[in-house]
Parts: sequence; C-alpha cells; structure tokens
Amino acid sequence: MLSWSTILAAGLAVTGAQGSPVELVERAPPILYLAGDSTMARGSGAYTGWGDYIAKYVTIPVVNKAIGGRSARSYTNEGRFAEIARLVKRDDIVVIEFGHNDGGSPNGANDNGRSDCPGTGNEVCRSGKTGEIGARVIISSQTPNNLYEGGSWLTGVPRFVGYAALAARNVGNGATFVDHFRAVANMFLRLRSSGTNALFPVDHTHTNARGADLVAQAFAQAINRNLNGTTPLRPYLKNPVPNVF
Ligand SMILES: *[C@@H]1O[C@H](CO)[C@@H](O)[C@H](O)[C@H]1NC(C)=O
Repeated sequence: MLSWSTILAAGLAVTGAQGSPVELVERAPPILYLAGDSTMARGSGAYTGWGDYIAKYVTIPVVNKAIGGRSARSYTNEGRFAEIARLVKRDDIVVIEFGHNDGGSPNGANDNGRSDCPGTGNEVCRSGKTGEIGARVIISSQTPNNLYEGGSWLTGVPRFVGYAALAARNVGNGATFVDHFRAVANMFLRLRSSGTNALFPVDHTHTNARGADLVAQAFAQAINRNLNGTTPLRPYLKNPVPNVF
C-alpha cells in the first residue's frame, strides 16, 4: 500500500525543473462545446435542435452554445466565438456548424448582418482561434433541410457544405471536418419520404424532438465512420454507436 510519504516523494520526484507541480490526479475529461444555429440549439415548443441530444451518444460533458438565428458572421460579431475561446481548456473539443443563416450577399445596402463573405472568409477563419489556444476544432457541415419536401427527393448541396470542408483545411491548427449534411441526407434516404416528412412539423428547416435525436445520432455515426476524416471526438463515442444511415 502506498503511504502518504511515498506519494509525496513521488510527487516531489516528478516536480518539473522550474518547480512547477506535476498533476498526480487524472486530468478531467475534455468538454465538448457546440457552436451553431437553431438546428443545433435547444428549441421550445414544436421544434428543437440536435445539440442537447448528442450528450446521449458521447461519454464527455456537452456545453451547447448554439443560438437560433445566427450565422458564422453574426455569431462572431456578437462575441460568441470569443466567449468559447475564453472557456475552452487544452484538449476540449469545439464543433462549429453553420450555414442555414449564412446565405445572401453582405455587399448590398440590405445586408442583414448575417450573410457571410463568399468562400471561407474571416468569420470561419476566425473560429480557428479556438484551436490556437489548445482546443480541438471540428467544423461540421450544416444539416440538410427536409430533402423530401413536396414528396420527392431534392438533390443539390448548399454551398456552405463545401465551404465547411474547405474551412477545416484552411483554418490549420489541425481542425477536422465532419460531413453532417451527408450523414443526415443519407439517413433521410433510409427513412424515405413519409419518415422524413414526419420529422418536420413546422417548416423545412426545423425538426421535432425525434428528428433532433436522429440528427444527433447521424452526427455520432458520422464521427465513428470518419466521414470525412478522423476527428478527436471519436474516442469519446458511447457504445453502441447509433446506426441511422
Ligand atoms: C464526404 O464523403 C462522402 C462519402 O465519400 C461524399 O459523398 C461527400 O461528398 C464528402 N463530402 C464532402 C464535403 O466532400
């Protein structure tokens, strides 16, 4: 049995050259922070986002910082990325998922304060700041709208899906990408028209609670399947990993 003096001696022995104490306790698990819009945020009433549901499928604590109505640009300008950058500790994981409110053009007189610059502009690059201070960034493509709206399958992928993949490469700091759009689209194909339409009670963007849970499951499965690339969240998935697409 280890005595206190043995532990103390061991502690002193591993004290660094500058006399800084070395942690003898296990490090707290990383925290998973989520930055996004209403499709990720906790909703009220008829619809809700997937962010709260992902906690069912990972082994680490989740802090859902998603806010309805935000784009990557307005989230940045409101200081919300800066807030996350202040909160994260080394090895925490930040998922950034935008696109639903990012369309339009910022150049015109009727700029709505949300439209992003075309391509992977400053807003997305800025989010990589969280990476600089030691958190691990996962850029996630936006969720699809109801791809069976009107009954038949809608093809076409929003430009923000490609931007998200590109941003992950450009941000540096080892940012990774997950194609949440593709995962959910493939799940909708499996659910077919009636199954998919049943998840969208109010409009073609926001799902009910069952839809939010399924969109979270598709996220967990995409992380497990490395769609598209290995992310730092994979070791923290709960088993069994969902299989929805
Ligand atoms: C991710 O991989 C899937 C499967 O190979 C592919 O269909 C999809 O287009 C890829 N996503 C991006 C954004 O490249």
